[in-house]
Amino acid sequence: MEKSTQKNGWKIYKRLIRIALRNNSTPVAIAIFGMVITAVSDPALSAIMKPILDGGFIQRDPNVISLLPFGLFAIFIIRSFGIFLTIYFMAKVGRSLVYRLREMMFKNLLDLPVSFYDKTSSGDIMSRISHNVELLSSVAARSLIILIRDTLTIVGLLVWMFYLSWELTLIFLLAAPFIVLLVSSLNKKFRSLTHDAQNSVGGIIHVAQEVIQGNKIVKIFKGYEKETFRFENTNDDNRKAHMNLALTEGINSAVIMLIVGSALSGIILVSTFDFILETITVGSFVSFMFAMFMILGPARGLASINARLQQGIAAGENVFELIDENKENDKGNINNLNIENNIVFENVSFLYPNNNSPVIKNINLEIKVGEFIALVGMSGCGKSTLVNLIPRLYNPSSGKIKIDNIDTMDLTLNALRKNMSYVGQDTILFNDTVKNNIIYGQNNIDESSIISALEKSYSLEFVNEMPNGINTIIGENGVLLSGGQRQRLAIARAFLKDSPVLIFDEATSSLDSVSEKCIQKALDELKIGKTTIIIAHRLSTVEKANNIVVMENGSIIESGNHDDLISKKDYYYKLYNSQLFK
Ligand SMILES: Nc1ncnc2c1ncn2[C@@H]1O[C@H](COP(=O)(O)OP(=O)(O)OP(=O)(O)O)[C@@H](O)[C@H]1O
Ligand SMILES: [Mg+2]
Repeated sequence: MEKSTQKNGWKIYKRLIRIALRNNSTPVAIAIFGMVITAVSDPALSAIMKPILDGGFIQRDPNVISLLPFGLFAIFIIRSFGIFLTIYFMAKVGRSLVYRLREMMFKNLLDLPVSFYDKTSSGDIMSRISHNVELLSSVAARSLIILIRDTLTIVGLLVWMFYLSWELTLIFLLAAPFIVLLVSSLNKKFRSLTHDAQNSVGGIIHVAQEVIQGNKIVKIFKGYEKETFRFENTNDDNRKAHMNLALTEGINSAVIMLIVGSALSGIILVSTFDFILETITVGSFVSFMFAMFMILGPARGLASINARLQQGIAAGENVFELIDENKENDKGNINNLNIENNIVFENVSFLYPNNNSPVIKNINLEIKVGEFIALVGMSGCGKSTLVNLIPRLYNPSSGKIKIDNIDTMDLTLNALRKNMSYVGQDTILFNDTVKNNIIYGQNNIDESSIISALEKSYSLEFVNEMPNGINTIIGENGVLLSGGQRQRLAIARAFLKDSPVLIFDEATSSLDSVSEKCIQKALDELKIGKTTIIIAHRLSTVEKANNIVVMENGSIIESGNHDDLISKKDYYYKLYNSQLFK
């Protein structure tokens, strides 16, 4: 994923606040109210020390002695109430922020182009959706608490201290510029360290996921050592990144504590001087010291706000990058396609974004309505790429593909794809029931159509043998099925969609001849009345095609029906014979 241009932390927070406030202004207001009353109770606690000592202990005033415990208790009641409001309502805002950000990321994920998935590791995306967003929300909530509650507490306590003894307060404040200097110098360091720490989570998920998905290969090819090593590396990167962060954070807090500590010692020293001793009562002095200690907690919070804000910005950059990633180009506005006309390729070339030379070179091809055309050619010559251009999984780099005489770029993706069924080279099935897999994306399908699709795809027999028939769950990507069974379910899915154009990218894995025949027969039936484009690896599949298009290295080198091409005794002839005598 490209680095965001939104380096500006403020922009990220402003955006986050906008999202957090949407539909949430009441909980935010209640939480802030809670923070304010908690913040006011701290100076009140410190203030009540003065009458307790001066009035209660020294002057032994009976009024003070009888009233103060209640006063103290009242302050604690208010404080508890404030704390509850803050925790509960901040959580409400934080959780709805996580919910909303996840929703935004997922929505965009559905609309991202295939090329995005080509270049991004799924571990990276997962870590943004699971980890970064949680971090962002908790950091944002904590920062808000620090900024409002702790800052108010500090201000309140300072005002009280100033009232008691401005001289001592000034000494205490001498430390402030040092803290500000230190904090701002550590700003940049934090952000880059936090980025490292967060990105390393993506690495961990990535390696774990590959081992999970490729567990058979790991077992058979004895990949234990290699994978352990790979995992150790990313796991260690993650540990180191977090330790670097902790080191910087630790030094930061420790140095701030030292500065505050020096100020405290300085104050005690100064207060023993006569000119101060004369101006301050015992109650005032204890109250002052009390306030100073109470200020340390919020001050520590305020000192760590920087680290937290930087963490939030780093996480926010990752989250918003995914939300802002460019969607699939869907600028066409024609919403109606009947496919009464041919599919025409006009000088179409295509270059994968990360490649140097085009994979599809200047293709001109006409696929007539209702025709059955076959694409053949050596592995890697660009067949799958070419058919992927028709439903616009990728867009041509130059040239046009027209259907019904309309440039597919002018159609909405929905109108275009509604008319296509696609059986890919790698069968994709979901961890769901047979039924839900084949009705995928369609509503109101009755049971009899499902049975008929299974029958026509030669799947009914094996599905009926499964423990729960069409309601059997088939495992992630259909792991509980054989390769041929998976393909036949993919064909059943295409049967149910029953669209005018059928694209079938034959799987390269070879099947036993019975399965192959089943698939062949299913396909023969499926393509009736449709414009069918088949990529064939077994040339026996294509003998009946109206047009066989032979590709080499991204270009069409021959085309015609089987007999024409055989009699030409050129590339196809050689390809055909090489398979015959295999
Ligand atoms: N997502 C991608 N990004 C970059 N290059 C790719 C991508 N997919 C395929 N290619 C390259 O494009 C070329 C054509 O690939 P394509 O999958 O179209 O071949 P194919 O004719 O379908 O091969 P096969 O018969 O093995 O399925 C290959 O050289 C491949 O390396
Ligand atoms: Mg292919």
